[in-house]
Amino acid sequence: MSVKLVLAAFAGIATMVVGVPLPNETYPLATVPGTTPFNKVEPLQQRVAFIDANNMAVSWNTYASLPDSEATVHYGLDPLNLDQVAYSNQTTFETSRTFSHHAVLSGLQPKTLYHYRVAHTNCYACNTLPTYTFTTPRSPADTEPYSIAVVADMGLMGPDGLTTVAGTGAAGTLLPNETNTVQSLAQNLDAFEHIIHIGDLAYADYFIKESVGGYFGADNEIVNQTQVVERYEELNEEFYDQITPLTSSKAYMVAVGNHESNCDNGGVTDKTHNISYTASYCMPGQTNFTAYAEHWNMPGTPGAAKNFWYSYDDGMVHYIILDFETDFGQGIYGPDEVGGTGKQMSGSRGKVNEQIDWLKADLAKVDRTKTPWVLAFGHRPYYVSIADARCTQCQEAFEPVLNAGGVDLVMTGHDHVYSRSTAVYNNTADPAGYNDPKYPVYITNGLGGHYDGMDDMDATLPANIEFGIEHVYGWSRLYFANATHMRQDFVASRNSSVLDSFWLYKSRGGNTSPVTTTSKGNNGNGHGSHTSTSSSHHSTPTHKQNGQNGQGQNGQN
Ligand SMILES: *[C@@H]1O[C@H](CO)[C@@H](O)[C@H](O)[C@H]1NC(C)=O
Ligand SMILES: *[C@@H]1O[C@H](CO)[C@@H](O)[C@H](O)[C@H]1NC(C)=O
Ligand SMILES: *[C@@H]1O[C@H](CO)[C@@H](O)[C@H](O)[C@H]1NC(C)=O
Ligand SMILES: *[C@@H]1O[C@H](CO)[C@@H](O)[C@H](O)[C@H]1NC(C)=O
Ligand SMILES: *[C@@H]1O[C@H](CO)[C@@H](O)[C@H](O)[C@H]1NC(C)=O
Ligand SMILES: *[C@@H]1O[C@H](CO)[C@@H](O)[C@H](O)[C@H]1NC(C)=O
Ligand SMILES: *[C@@H]1O[C@H](CO)[C@@H](O)[C@H](O)[C@H]1NC(C)=O
Ligand SMILES: *[C@@H]1O[C@H](CO)[C@@H](O)[C@H](O)[C@H]1NC(C)=O
Ligand SMILES: *[C@@H]1O[C@H](CO)[C@@H](O)[C@H](O)[C@H]1NC(C)=O
Ligand SMILES: [Fe+2]
Repeated sequence: MSVKLVLAAFAGIATMVVGVPLPNETYPLATVPGTTPFNKVEPLQQRVAFIDANNMAVSWNTYASLPDSEATVHYGLDPLNLDQVAYSNQTTFETSRTFSHHAVLSGLQPKTLYHYRVAHTNCYACNTLPTYTFTTPRSPADTEPYSIAVVADMGLMGPDGLTTVAGTGAAGTLLPNETNTVQSLAQNLDAFEHIIHIGDLAYADYFIKESVGGYFGADNEIVNQTQVVERYEELNEEFYDQITPLTSSKAYMVAVGNHESNCDNGGVTDKTHNISYTASYCMPGQTNFTAYAEHWNMPGTPGAAKNFWYSYDDGMVHYIILDFETDFGQGIYGPDEVGGTGKQMSGSRGKVNEQIDWLKADLAKVDRTKTPWVLAFGHRPYYVSIADARCTQCQEAFEPVLNAGGVDLVMTGHDHVYSRSTAVYNNTADPAGYNDPKYPVYITNGLGGHYDGMDDMDATLPANIEFGIEHVYGWSRLYFANATHMRQDFVASRNSSVLDSFWLYKSRGGNTSPVTTTSKGNNGNGHGSHTSTSSSHHSTPTHKQNGQNGQGQNGQN
């Protein structure tokens, strides 16, 4: 039944006051992403996150405000006896049409499966609300192998986002029935234990660009400020609905990207109507990382920097999530950072050097006997297969600290390509390659996929880049075999094929032997600077190339 029919069926009681319970059998749950539920306090967009081995965050949204004492999570080991309860804190922001609720479930055991149901005390039919499961992180020092998924630059899928139909200005479409990245992650949910999304989440800020590109149809083109508010929020809500199959059962850990702040990348021109939109068209609440800051509950103490830089442990890995948009420190880039133009970014979070000082302190605290692996994640790359798209500010700010801290692997997104560097520091490759290097290895994977498509990588890969892939949507899987061996795979969303795979070996002072590095340089649209038989890197004719609409790579991702 379509949503319209469902609503029509309840037209007679449509004046019912929000929150008042309905008879159980007349309690339609929202089923269509992006549509407003009949019951305005129905819990939606359930998303879990790690706090630590004994505490888990559960967040969700409702279309009406709920007192904290009424918004609850029931949880336990037995799905038929959810004997524990957690209460939440509600947050919202200027232009939001929904309310986020954040609860922390405490008293948990590590590496344990729990069942939970988000509810509200006034719900008449709580038993019709869905029950989900999550697994708590492993304790540090747990040496069992496991995998995680990493994605960046994902955005909306479907008619309002990445689809088989490209609007004006879009640079890559899906093939008919092609499996997109959200679907691929959902299909492979058993193959990894948690997910990291390294920035550029919903791309809700592209609402004007999408409108100008014809995505919403002539009838729904944005013509006034009311629609600006509505459309941004609709796209954001639709994204959170779409990822619920992932976020409701796997910890979904997030970093900021430029699209969490720089509304419409600073502007867009509607040539048909001769209107130039600037970021000033965006409303308060749609800039400054506002929706991001409000929607998530990552580890770390409450305060301005919450959700922006933090760390957590899962088994033998220490994960560090960083803000590569602002707060570079050193006081040289100004409040609106990345290049310091002040035109796009807004919303730096801390005092000068606060993030860098935090990072140094966090690295100093790592106990390598418990978490031998230390990985860092930030949105923008500085070693990447597009030479002129390097974030040199990020490099200046973070590289010396990450290197000095012995970080093993750094993952980034932003450029809509895949690239794998050699182990490298200060633009100099580590002669050890992947066999016990002293420098970090850098992986960029910005191929999650959003309506605006993918980028071209350089025909000749830049210095220190070993391998790259372009024009294939995908995500990364990290596999931690033990304290000395880990592997990174590029997984093509459309068919789950692994198009690149490499092992990183760290001796940790012992005498274990390295695994031979494996890279699949002849597959798909990849090419490697060291691979003489690589295929043409423009071999997917169905995907339009970027650049034909005057979109450069800089600042547009
Ligand atoms: C809710 O807010 C209160 C007061 O700021 C704080 O003590 C508590 O830890 C918060 N709870 C959650 C689940 O964030
Ligand atoms: C509605 O559900 C509640 C439990 O959630 C149950 O106690 C009650 O009997 C149900 N009412 C009807 C009319 O089915
Ligand atoms: C796409 O999937 C639909 C439904 O399964 C099917 O009817 C259609 O033929 C498929 N289209 C293509 C091009 O494979
Ligand atoms: C904005 O445009 C929509 C759609 O055309 C219209 O329904 C609404 O009344 C307009 N609002 C204002 C304030 O002009
Ligand atoms: C477009 O608008 C600008 C002012 O906003 C005006 O100067 C220019 O003549 C217009 N161009 C056309 C083709 O109407
Ligand atoms: C938030 O963003 C707006 C628009 O970019 C800007 O004018 C304002 O100063 C920002 N506020 C903060 C606290 O960063
Ligand atoms: C990086 O290398 C350049 C030369 O290429 C050198 O001048 C500079 O001092 C090096 N910086 C660091 C931090 O090692
Ligand atoms: C660690 O894992 C690698 C890859 O599976 C394996 O070759 C190696 O023997 C393992 N080392 C130990 C000490 O088990
Ligand atoms: C999977 O898709 C990739 C990317 O298009 C392609 O290179 C590869 O050949 C496909 N693999 C299979 C088994 O179809
Ligand atoms: Fe980006």
